[in-house]
Amino acid sequence: MGKIGTVFLGFCSLAIFIPWVCSGLKEEEEKIWSQSLCRGKEKVTKLHFYLQDVVGGPNRTVYDVAKSEITDSLPSEFGEVLVLDNLVTAGPEPESKKVGRMQGVVGLSDLHEMALFMLVNLVFTEGKFNGSTLSVLGRNPLNDKVREVQVVGGTGVFRMARGYVITRTHSVVDANILSVYEYTVVVFHFDEEAMDLLDM
Ligand SMILES: *[C@@H]1O[C@H](CO)[C@@H](O)[C@H](O)[C@H]1NC(C)=O
Ligand SMILES: *[C@@H]1O[C@H](CO)[C@@H](O)[C@H](O)[C@H]1NC(C)=O
Repeated sequence: MGKIGTVFLGFCSLAIFIPWVCSGLKEEEEKIWSQSLCRGKEKVTKLHFYLQDVVGGPNRTVYDVAKSEITDSLPSEFGEVLVLDNLVTAGPEPESKKVGRMQGVVGLSDLHEMALFMLVNLVFTEGKFNGSTLSVLGRNPLNDKVREVQVVGGTGVFRMARGYVITRTHSVVDANILSVYEYTVVVFHFDEEAMDLLDM
């Protein structure tokens, strides 16, 4: 048995002894899901979308929470913390199809360059991803042309997800109002559809 097989076996035998009491899922659902996990129904999904980062104007979705005493004196804006609930769209235009939101906290935590730490959830609202989330936690150096940020987990269709985001600044419509960011996400996850394949 290969290394991956051993890891799955380890996980599955562990799962048998964990009582199904800690989450909101129904017992039967949990059993089915853990079985699909044991069978290794893992898949890769690639998503492509745009983030509408509205920092000003009447439809603002990003707000300052706090600043450090040196934030205003540094080009890196170190120490600023923001909370956001940004619209996620299929195309770059703000009025293109809405596919979700990006909600969470970001901050500037590099003394020398504009680099965000991101602690955000992507909440999808369309199609088979509706209601599923992806959690993104990582560093996003805004002045780099292409940035990579890690995906550390997910829910729903994206349960047990891990992967990465490649992001670029698509356009700065007005630095004080709207910037649009392009996101390509690649995630490994255990699809709920795998449950249908079980012969129970
Ligand atoms: C704000 O949102 C409203 C409703 O979606 C829209 O009609 C309006 O054009 C938006 N304003 C700006 C400045 O984007
Ligand atoms: C997404 O799910 C919510 C809650 O179940 C539902 O109200 C909404 O209509 C769904 N949206 C789409 C586009 O399927």
